[in-house]
Amino acid sequence: MAFERWFNRTLNRVWGFIEDRSGMPKWALRPQPEFTFKPSYWTGAFVVNAFLYQVISGILLLLYYQPSVNPTFTPCGQPAGSLSVAPAAWCSTYYIIHSVPMGSLLLSTHLYGAYAMIFLALVHFYRGYYLGVYKAPREFSWMVGTLLLLTTLGMGFTGYLLPYTQLSYNATSVGLVLALRLPGAGTLLGPFLLGDSTGQGLLSRMFAAHVLLLPIALGALLYAHIALFESHGIAPPATSDPLQRRRFTEVEDRKAVPFMPHIFFYITKWALLYIGLLIGIAALWPWDLPTYVGNLAAAGVVTEPDWYFLWTFKLVDFVGVTPVIAIGLSNVIILYMLLLPFLDRSKATHPRDRPVFLFIANSMVGFFLLMTVWGGLTPGIAIAPMIVAERLVPIFAVNAVVVWLFYRRYQASYQRRLAASGQSLRLDGVYSKPSPAAAAAGRPEVASRD
Ligand code: HEM
Repeated sequence: MAFERWFNRTLNRVWGFIEDRSGMPKWALRPQPEFTFKPSYWTGAFVVNAFLYQVISGILLLLYYQPSVNPTFTPCGQPAGSLSVAPAAWCSTYYIIHSVPMGSLLLSTHLYGAYAMIFLALVHFYRGYYLGVYKAPREFSWMVGTLLLLTTLGMGFTGYLLPYTQLSYNATSVGLVLALRLPGAGTLLGPFLLGDSTGQGLLSRMFAAHVLLLPIALGALLYAHIALFESHGIAPPATSDPLQRRRFTEVEDRKAVPFMPHIFFYITKWALLYIGLLIGIAALWPWDLPTYVGNLAAAGVVTEPDWYFLWTFKLVDFVGVTPVIAIGLSNVIILYMLLLPFLDRSKATHPRDRPVFLFIANSMVGFFLLMTVWGGLTPGIAIAPMIVAERLVPIFAVNAVVVWLFYRRYQASYQRRLAASGQSLRLDGVYSKPSPAAAAAGRPEVASRD
């Protein structure tokens, strides 16, 4: 007991000294309500953790990787003394896996870390979508977030070619064909992406984009994203329950916990768990390097991107869907994500008060899941329109029915609870003031949800 008291006193003194001398309260992020000690409030921070791991592992990989398509004198898995015809980019990757101490672990964690970062960014996006965090005043946070997601996907696209395997080369070529069909922007992008139209020109550009241009863009966007988060504060929980509040109360504000060290350590705990899991998975299932570009044995290699682009690749397999249509649809989805805060103008934040947007979100999840699995199972196989309709229509139809039924059921139950508290729900999702009779009866005051 005495030791514990002494220990806590000393720790407080040391922390007080650090805080004072570093001026921490002035630059640390603002304190947050106590109830935000839940992973769901920090999904964005988990993406930041994943990004930091990518930066560190990427810098280590840069020590060995050679962005060149020229043949190399390293044997690269062939009998010692023989001259390898494999490109240096592939050979240096082979070297990392087989000769650099823990190189295989490093490379595998970088690859799986990229998957995890994209997955976590999607979780962060959908969490924000379902809970309506894009509503005023967080419209710009949302738009910058969409750009962050696109930049993250760009990192995945450009990194895919770097080992210079036949598989990644084929998929990158298809991806470029799609990007270059973009009306207007395609012609502008062409010279930048293709350079002198040689393999080296392409690899150099993908390399520059992957290790310099996109990370700088990501860093700048992230700075803006966190600055916006800091100025607006964390979004309060979404609710449409008349017996709960929408804004933080004074008590919650008073109970705010300083970001440093409490929330920082909370996030660090999750970051350590993330790194542990990543290393564990990479150690159990290390990545296998497919064969290199130009290898005759690679003639039968299928063209398949990483999982996060499988849905677009499957789209062009649909009979009648040209690259222009596929890229057009992707643009519509991107524009929808970007402009969502201006499309959903109601004040309600809870998903059950936003049936149309709930339906669109569910449909997008269903569509992406189906297309990804389909693309993974039958890459490059043409699909007739009837089969497309048979698979896709049920997703939208079932979703529409389920959302409508839930909406009806919840609306009925709100109205009952509101009536019990002497209030009524206006169509724009705002509660009217309690009736004098309800107030006199001492029924609870309900704050507006806007
Ligand atoms: C590389 C991708 C991204 C990173 C690193 C990132 C990072 C963050 C961080 C650190 C926060 C603070 C709260 C939290 O940890 O959840 C945050 C909040 C936020 N993000 Fe992101 N984000 C990314 C992508 C996105 C995307 C794709 C969207 C939506 C289109 C988005 C929209 C938002 C919004 C609206 C907030 C404020 C949420 C609140 O106040 O609770 N972000 N983001």
